Amino acid sequence: MSFNIAIDGPSGVGKSTIAKKLARDLNFVYIDTGAMFRGLAVYFLENNLDIDDEIAICDAVEQARETIDYVDGEQHVFVNGVDVTDKLRTEAVSRAASVTSQYIPVRKKLLEMQREMAEIQDVIMDGRDIGTVVLPNAHLKIYMVARPEVQAQRRYDQLKESGKLADATFESILADIRERDYRDSHRENAPLRKADDAFEIDTSDFTIEEVLNKIKEHFERTRGESENA
Ligand code: DC
Repeated sequence: MSFNIAIDGPSGVGKSTIAKKLARDLNFVYIDTGAMFRGLAVYFLENNLDIDDEIAICDAVEQARETIDYVDGEQHVFVNGVDVTDKLRTEAVSRAASVTSQYIPVRKKLLEMQREMAEIQDVIMDGRDIGTVVLPNAHLKIYMVARPEVQAQRRYDQLKESGKLADATFESILADIRERDYRDSHRENAPLRKADDAFEIDTSDFTIEEVLNKIKEHFERTRGESENA
């Protein structure tokens, strides 16, 4: 049976950085579910659809065939056979993914794929509803949070480093993050929420290594328990 680790939390708390490193150290497959919602968002935007028009988006999602594959160990997202990975990390796509992930057919499309991937291999999957909806029986659940100002600073630094800051400022990024996190946690379908059996970690004042070590401690204990069960 495969071992599943679920990591949930708002944007910019360090989920993907941590999950990637953890997957490398534990030899698990890392699945970034946010990238899957972003891939569909790219498709909606490139087809000039109004992301607030639920009916149009739910119609269009039927035409989008999404797959994920690994290229040099990195997750790539393909929509209708086209690799859209380089287009996933813009502010427009962040917003479009947050808005369109509220719609049931969009979530449904990805849910089955996510569960299948977790069934056949050991995975670390990160997102918003992994511990609550996608993998409610995950062996280890982590819920990561950080102060909003820390989230915004991390996003600002990432954009700056990758030369994608454009006209964004710290304040505009903070406002976008607050808006997205509010939407993601107040939507009706699979909102961002800590699972009752998840370990919560506030990453604001810890280094990546420190967070990684805390999760590894939980992992060792949980794995021991599941082997003895
Ligand atoms: O993790 P991220 O910022 O790449 O996610 C982009 C958006 O996708 C996020 O604002 C909400 C949505 N999402 C979701 O609804 N459920 C998930 N499991 C992952 C992401």
